[in-house]
Amino acid sequence: MNNYISLSLELHLFFARIMKEHALFLEAGFLMPDEGYRQKSEQLKQQFEALLDDVVCISSGMVGNAVLKSGEIVTDFTLEAERKTRKLTDISINTDITRRSQNLQCRSDCDFSPEMKHQVKAINQRSIRLLREIIAFKERILSEVLSCRLFTGNYPLLIDHILREAKLYLSYVEELEKHGTIRPENARNSELFWNRIMMEHALFIRGLLDPTEEELIDTADEFADAYQNLLKKALDAQDKTILTCEALETTTKYQSFKTAGVTGINDCRIKSLILPLLADHVLREANHYLRILKNE
Ligand SMILES: [Fe+2]
Ligand SMILES: [Fe+2]
Repeated sequence: MNNYISLSLELHLFFARIMKEHALFLEAGFLMPDEGYRQKSEQLKQQFEALLDDVVCISSGMVGNAVLKSGEIVTDFTLEAERKTRKLTDISINTDITRRSQNLQCRSDCDFSPEMKHQVKAINQRSIRLLREIIAFKERILSEVLSCRLFTGNYPLLIDHILREAKLYLSYVEELEKHGTIRPENARNSELFWNRIMMEHALFIRGLLDPTEEELIDTADEFADAYQNLLKKALDAQDKTILTCEALETTTKYQSFKTAGVTGINDCRIKSLILPLLADHVLREANHYLRILKNE
């Protein structure tokens, strides 16, 4: 039961924040004539924000230290990135949740109460409903964009990418509800999943940088190539341990690149079309992947 509670809360602390930000990126990408899409994005952002708020309320003393210190829930730059993004887009962001997330305490040894299990179960059920809704919405946007009936500032690949992230989140919550835990075979598949995600981040970054930012574009291209190679190798891999080491090495360097990215964008030193919160978002996803790779 303790495992079920901790894993559920850790999952939501990372992914519910990711989902509310996806909704914000979608909202920011639509033009004024697409008011219905903007409203639906805003509604989903608020619903995931409320979910995250409730998760943060019950998470102190309930989650592992490795998750809290990984930088996947919040980074040192999240608050600043939120403030800047709120100002630039005029889309509301509840920064109080971020402040409280920074102060979460790690798990103590005590057993969790049955009441806590009920609360977590209700949160899991609520997240499943919301995830089905955001998945359907992202699918609809993608299909409209691909048939040129809708314009957005977001790449079609980015919409497909955030759709896959939502589906992964849903698969984990469903597994927790079915088996009370997340089984190891799913953890193995996640390496393939996240290598592709990391590669796509590099492709988005290179495409959203100002064309004059040549050095950063070159580095982003190198990371895209490195992850593409890892993906190719994984197809005919005999020894998975070596691949994990390579992924760990590449992702550690990538974490530094993304950290430089978010600070550069927060401080207005990088010319780009990247919202500060998007820069922090991709850093958190790298931090999450690093924790998985280190098996913490
Ligand atoms: Fe994401
Ligand atoms: Fe991502």
